Amino acid sequence: MKDVFLNGDFLPAEQAKVSVLDRGFLLGDGVYEVIPVYAGHCFQLSGHLLRLQNSLDGVRMANPYSLEQWTDLIEKLVERNGGGDQAVYLQVTRGVAPRDHVFPEGVEPTAFVMSNPLKAVPEKYKREGIVAITVPDIRWQNCNIKAITLLPNSLLKQQAQDAGAQEALLIRDGYLTEGSASNAYAVIKGVIYTAPKDEKVLPGITRDLVITTAEKAGINLVEEAVSETQLATADEIWVSSSTKEILPITTLNNKAVGEGVPGAVWQKMDALYQQLKHGAF
Ligand code: PDD
Repeated sequence: MKDVFLNGDFLPAEQAKVSVLDRGFLLGDGVYEVIPVYAGHCFQLSGHLLRLQNSLDGVRMANPYSLEQWTDLIEKLVERNGGGDQAVYLQVTRGVAPRDHVFPEGVEPTAFVMSNPLKAVPEKYKREGIVAITVPDIRWQNCNIKAITLLPNSLLKQQAQDAGAQEALLIRDGYLTEGSASNAYAVIKGVIYTAPKDEKVLPGITRDLVITTAEKAGINLVEEAVSETQLATADEIWVSSSTKEILPITTLNNKAVGEGVPGAVWQKMDALYQQLKHGAF
């Protein structure tokens, strides 16, 4: 069994216990991060820890650790669990208190970190692309906060799964926001479109990399949401996340996207992303 980190201690996962009165358990009152680890090295750790701070600020919760402390404990856990490729999951909840909607006073937050082997992205997804459906974005109005309250995202992802798709693309007021667990992109006439950073989308760390990589590589990218109509006729559609990297969607709502195969702009972006992962771009 792998080790986890809980409130200052490293211990085997089966020995880690949290109170049933934890506000994460009772109210979903917490925030989280997922950080990919390649060959024992955390990828884009400072970006993830900065976003964690923003999420904590967004829900008025104190950060239990400094940037240096987080870095140190995450690196220690990765090493204890054997290095290699891992996915680190960290969660901070408001802590243990009698159930009440109002914030408790003088309560220590619960800090939990685990790491699991990072599943390689299936070659088939890269060769053939994935299937997606569009669904109404039923989430709340602070999607920029990486909250553990994932019931809407889970319902939407399950809806996709039930329809034989791998991802649900979310539509709010007629525009594409993001995926149920990913940021989303449309390529139209050689230009990449992705929704701007606001409260309708999570500011993805992979999304940041797509933006800077496009800039460096001289590919046009605009932070502008596409309409459902534009999406239906886009040449390429992609999604990105820390665990799934950048994936092409080749079937949307039972119709082929572009030529129905991963597009040329995605091929280029994926190649650059693979170099980035290995510190070579
Ligand atoms: N989710 N948007 C949503 C709603 C997400 O849940 C995620 C990632 C992203 C991509 O963000 P990033 O590139 O920083 O991983 C966008 C993680 C992987 C998860 O919930 O498991």
